[in-house]
Amino acid sequence: MSTEQSILSMEHLASLCKRRGFIFQSSEIYGGLNGFWDYGPLGCELKRNVREAWWQDMVGTREDVVGLDCSIIMHPRIWEASGHVGGFTDPMIDCRGCKKRFRADQLFEELGLTPNACEKVEEKFKVPEGTKCPACGSKEFTEPRAFNLMFKTFVGPLQDESSVAYLRPETAQGIFAQFGNVMATSRQKVPFGIAQIGKAFRNEINPRNYTFRSREFEQMELEFFVKPGSDQQWHEYWVAERIKWYQTIGLPKESITQYVYPKGELAHYASACVDIMYAFPFGVQELEGIAARGNFDLSRHQEFSGKSMEYFDQDTNEKFIPHVIEPSAGVDRICLALLCNAYHEEWIPKEGPVIEAEPGKQPPEGYEARTVLRFAPRVAPIKVAVFPLLKNKPELVEKARGIFTGLRRHWACFYDQTGAIGRRYRRQDEIGTPFCVTVDFDTLTDNTVTLRERDSMKQVRIPVDKLEAEIFARMGM
Ligand code: GAP
Repeated sequence: MSTEQSILSMEHLASLCKRRGFIFQSSEIYGGLNGFWDYGPLGCELKRNVREAWWQDMVGTREDVVGLDCSIIMHPRIWEASGHVGGFTDPMIDCRGCKKRFRADQLFEELGLTPNACEKVEEKFKVPEGTKCPACGSKEFTEPRAFNLMFKTFVGPLQDESSVAYLRPETAQGIFAQFGNVMATSRQKVPFGIAQIGKAFRNEINPRNYTFRSREFEQMELEFFVKPGSDQQWHEYWVAERIKWYQTIGLPKESITQYVYPKGELAHYASACVDIMYAFPFGVQELEGIAARGNFDLSRHQEFSGKSMEYFDQDTNEKFIPHVIEPSAGVDRICLALLCNAYHEEWIPKEGPVIEAEPGKQPPEGYEARTVLRFAPRVAPIKVAVFPLLKNKPELVEKARGIFTGLRRHWACFYDQTGAIGRRYRRQDEIGTPFCVTVDFDTLTDNTVTLRERDSMKQVRIPVDKLEAEIFARMGM
């Protein structure tokens, strides 16, 4: 895909997401708030399906992982111990001409500049003389400086340094801080994991690429505690598990790649890190990171809190601070990848094969355009739509409503009786509904319905009493 086409398709995707109720700009009626997004009726179903798929596979079907749900605001010492107060920063540069604020590494990348080989932000991202601002052309920039990404707030009525607290920038630290309580109550033995899904907040300097980099987002994190020395084996295990998982929610194998961190790029305490990457239209980008973090986090909390984080292994009579493997994924990024992967524009002839639409062009003579979201049934916001052929025939409506009520016990369903049947199919295609059921006059005599499959658009007649079983079989979930 050329860049022009990619940008076009992201715009089309964002427009469909707004039009059909997947994603809205936060606070839109007041002009929006950069880096914040709201999920509409279909978006929140999609998100819920992603969370549930993760929870089911990481917690529900495993005996060695338990769940946790921590508060968003925690004791500020947690963020000192974790290193976030001191070091959770991005380098920032402002243009003195237009006042535009840049993340220094992104500015350097945009301008094709290489950062200086130096640890200090001020030296590393010193803008060379004569460099022009990509927004206004000015050659005046501020010195680069480190900007802490944590959102600050105050707890209680006093607003001074003693009441400062932070919105969590990751869910992981709550897990480490509660390690002892979970150990004491869950009867788990190392190796075992603690999983959490929840909101995280980062005051990103430059939120961009739609929901990809937001200031408020949701994480799904697992801290899997292992015996020191078994880190590599468990890290490899989790990388393989997590890569497989993306196929279960419909992201094709070929769209997922791994970025293996070279030793020089690892944090000083980490022994390995692999990012799971997806080929977004705007570039190959991270969906999830899987790090082997040693015992850094638990040791730091032991040091800062004075509470032991040691584990006593009854089999070997050994005491140790467990090491951790951390698969950490973003719900919003996964939803965006699912939307990008699902989005297709097609040209459909009256007969013969469907062709992929050419961006920005009208379909040729005899073809009709359709936009379709090819979600895997597991994540599709609506699984089945039910239609009576005509809305003014009470016997059709009554039969269709009966079928709708029955199917709703199993899946998220949608009932629609307005407009021509072809238009109703198109509306469901556009929101990714895998199956449509139509009740027509034959239904009243032979108790069969039409079951239509979204991707192939093939229709079959199915007896009503076999409908549920047929849909279950076709869902493949
Ligand atoms: N505890 C480890 C951790 O937080 P991270 O790589 O900073 O690691 C993990 O974040 C995941 O959270 C990322 O892979 C991404 O999916 C998601 N994420 C991070 N920052 C984000 C942002 N600004 N907007 C949306 N998702 C984000």
